[in-house]
Amino acid sequence: MSNPTLLGRRVLLIIGGGIAAYKSLELVRLIKKSGGEVMTLLTKAGAEFVTPMSLAALSGHSVRQDLFMPEDETAMGHIELSRWADLVVVAPATAGLIAKAANGMADDLASTTLLATDKKTLWAPAMNVRMWEHPAVQANVSKLKSFDGFHRGAFVGPDQGEMACGEFGFGRMAEPAAILDAIAAALSDSKPLAGRKAVITAGPTFEAIDPVRGLTNRSSGKQGYAVAAALAELGAEVTLVSGPVFLNPPAGVRRIPVEAATEMLAAVEGELKSSPVDIAVMSAAVADWRVDGVATGKIKKVPGGGPPALQLIENPDILAAVSKSGPSRPKLVIGFAAETSDLEANAKAKLSRKGCDWIVGNDVSQDVFGSDGNAVTLFTRDGSESWARQSKTDIANRLAQHIVEHFKANPQ
Ligand code: CTP
Repeated sequence: MSNPTLLGRRVLLIIGGGIAAYKSLELVRLIKKSGGEVMTLLTKAGAEFVTPMSLAALSGHSVRQDLFMPEDETAMGHIELSRWADLVVVAPATAGLIAKAANGMADDLASTTLLATDKKTLWAPAMNVRMWEHPAVQANVSKLKSFDGFHRGAFVGPDQGEMACGEFGFGRMAEPAAILDAIAAALSDSKPLAGRKAVITAGPTFEAIDPVRGLTNRSSGKQGYAVAAALAELGAEVTLVSGPVFLNPPAGVRRIPVEAATEMLAAVEGELKSSPVDIAVMSAAVADWRVDGVATGKIKKVPGGGPPALQLIENPDILAAVSKSGPSRPKLVIGFAAETSDLEANAKAKLSRKGCDWIVGNDVSQDVFGSDGNAVTLFTRDGSESWARQSKTDIANRLAQHIVEHFKANPQ
C-alpha cells in the first residue's frame, strides 16, 4: 500500500520507552500527511527519548503524559481519549507495555488507557532480540492476538536487523511507513457498515403557537446523536434529522435541522426517496399534537380576555410512515418507546402497532431526559434484551453492534 488516506480518522499514539521512540515523530508526521488526526500519549520512559514539545508541534495537540494531570483530565479524560480514537497505536511497544496489556494491569496512564479503550489496538514492538524471543513476551503477544472483538491486537513488526544495542535479529521497530500502512489496513476492516445509508431522527419537535411561542418537550437529543455518531464511526453514511437541540453534529454526519413534526416527516421522506436507506432509527421525541391554525402574529394578552383556546390536531406518526411496506422502506427500522410504566407491554404494543422491526424501550420515569445515562430494553420480533444503566454513548455503541450483526446475518 502506498499513500493511504486516513482522512477523518483519529489515531491515539502511545509512545513507550525505547530508542525507537524517535521514529514516532516521523509516524506522527505521516499520519497527519495522510489526512488523519493524531493525539499522542507519552509514557514516562518514552519522555526520556522524545520531547513533548516536538510531539505537540507535529501533532497539533497537547501531549498526554504518564502523569495524571488534572487539567488534561478535565479537557479530555483518559477514558474519553481512548474512545475518541478510531484506532490505538502503540509504537514503540515495549515488553513492559505488552505485558501490562496482556495481563489487564492498569497502573499508569498508558496501561489504563489501553485497558479502557473499546477500539482495536495496533502494536509496533521494539526491543532487544533476546527479549522479543523470550517465551514470556511471546506468550503475552499470543494472548493479545487471541482477545476477541475490538480488543483484538494487530501487530506490525518487529523487523529483523541491527539494533541500537549492537545485536542482530528480530526486535527493530517497523519503519514508520510500514506502520502507516498497517494503520490504514487496521482501520479499513473496522468499517462494517461502509456502503450502508442510515437516517436518524433525534431531539424534540417544536410546534409553533405563534411566531414567539411553541409546544415542545424535554428531549435533549443526546441518545439519537450518540446513535448517529456510532453508526458513522462504523462506516455508515448518516443523515441526522434533528429537532432543536444544543448539540453539535457528530463528525462525518450530515444534519438536517427541523422544527415541527411535519417538517421532520418531510425531511425523512425526502431521504427515503433520494436513495435506498438501509437503517432508520427514529429516536426523536415527536410531539403528538400541533396547534391548528398557528397565529401569524404574536397572540396578545387582552386585559380581562382570559387565555386563548388552543385547538390541537394530531401530528403524523413518522415511525409508522417509515415502517410502511413499500419500495422505499428501509431494511431495518428501529423505534424508541418512552414509557413511564409497563415498559414491556407498551413497547411490544408499539412494535406491532407501528410496524417497525425493533423497539428500544426506555423507562423515562428515571433520570433520562438531558442526562448522559440511560437504561433500555431492546425488543425485536424474536425476543428482548435488557441493558443496565450506562452512558448513552455505550447504549448507542451496543445498538450499533446489534445492527452490524443483523446485516452480517441479512446482507441483502
Ligand atoms: N414517533 C414518531 N412520530 C410521532 C410519534 C412518535 O415517529 N408522531 C416515534 C418516536 O420517534 C419513537 C416512537 O414513535 O420512535 C414511539 O414514540 P413515543 O413517544 O414513545 O410513542 P407515541 O406513539 O407518541 O405513543 P405515546 O405517546 O402514547 O406513548
